[in-house]
Amino acid sequence: MMAAPINPSDINMIQGTYALLPDLPAVGGNEGVGQVMKTGSHVTALKPGDWVIPADAGLGTWRTEAVFDEVSLLKIPSDIPLTCAATLGVNPCTAYRMLCDFEILRPEDSVIQNAANSGVGQAVIQLAAAMGIKTINVVRDRPNIQELVERLKSLGADHVITEEMLRKSEVKELFKKVAKPILALNGVGGKSATELLRHLQHKGTMVTYGGMSKQPVTVPASALIFKDVKLRGFWMTQWKTDHSQDKEKLNSLITDLCSFIHKGQLVAPVCRQVPLADYQVALEASMEPFVSAKQILLM
Ligand SMILES: NC(=O)c1ccc[n+]([C@@H]2O[C@H](COP(=O)([O-])OP(=O)(O)OC[C@H]3O[C@@H](n4cnc5c(N)ncnc54)[C@H](OP(=O)(O)O)[C@@H]3O)[C@@H](O)[C@H]2O)c1
Repeated sequence: MMAAPINPSDINMIQGTYALLPDLPAVGGNEGVGQVMKTGSHVTALKPGDWVIPADAGLGTWRTEAVFDEVSLLKIPSDIPLTCAATLGVNPCTAYRMLCDFEILRPEDSVIQNAANSGVGQAVIQLAAAMGIKTINVVRDRPNIQELVERLKSLGADHVITEEMLRKSEVKELFKKVAKPILALNGVGGKSATELLRHLQHKGTMVTYGGMSKQPVTVPASALIFKDVKLRGFWMTQWKTDHSQDKEKLNSLITDLCSFIHKGQLVAPVCRQVPLADYQVALEASMEPFVSAKQILLM
């Protein structure tokens, strides 16, 4: 293994609260990039030197070496930045699928999302910008909010607002400049999700993919009765399982994302690279609020 991030789902897996739990003892980490050192005599798709990422969750990536089955790995180009490769298999895949699979988005349509500074959020901003779709990005307020706003705008965010601003009536001004969103992406839940729904277009869709606030998604009856909004969920692991018989689907998803990377339209999330030996520091930092940086273990 060369590098592997610490994602919230890795923590949830250790806490035992994730939908997928490995048999114990187990190695942590579901994402990362490795280099093939040696192959068995029946291996045809991979050769020494290739860069590979897990084809599915649960492989255990926080380690220096492993022996994996060929089918559990996906070959990726070795000319992309290491941090991009290490964080390719989960968040950008999730962002891309959610932008492509729930509503037909046309240029100038808009998407609203909370946790916009998360790994998923940063990928949504960049992929939507590459697709000509406007984004309204909601983040939590913090002392250095202007710095964060500028950072997200430099990635291609059209509008960045705080959760508090989204609740105020002044937000109406924003929707004079940008079309009401047809798609909302919810990684937080609780009141934050309710606010996304409030601004969704008639018959729009809210996709819940994360629950960072650990609060249930509260849906006003009016959103269902008068706006007929659709509430959906998305789990990348399920998508991979559903398409496990058609590996071309996953390969073509990875190829599309690598082409965005090659064109400079998709960069790695803001991250802090930490030597594997300092994993405890990285684990602690990954659970702190307002850090805005993905911890990446370097092997
Ligand atoms: N369904 C799927 O297939 C799928 C795939 C990938 C990720 N996910 C989920 O998506 C979520 C984000 O993952 P990630 O890797 O992108 O995360 P990440 O990069 O670690 O970022 C975490 C995000 O959550 C926000 N946050 C933390 N605690 C919060 C709270 N109490 N209320 C509101 N926001 C809070 C953080 O905002 P601050 O900066 O304000 O702290 C930050 O934006 C996680 O729940 C993860 O499990 C789901």
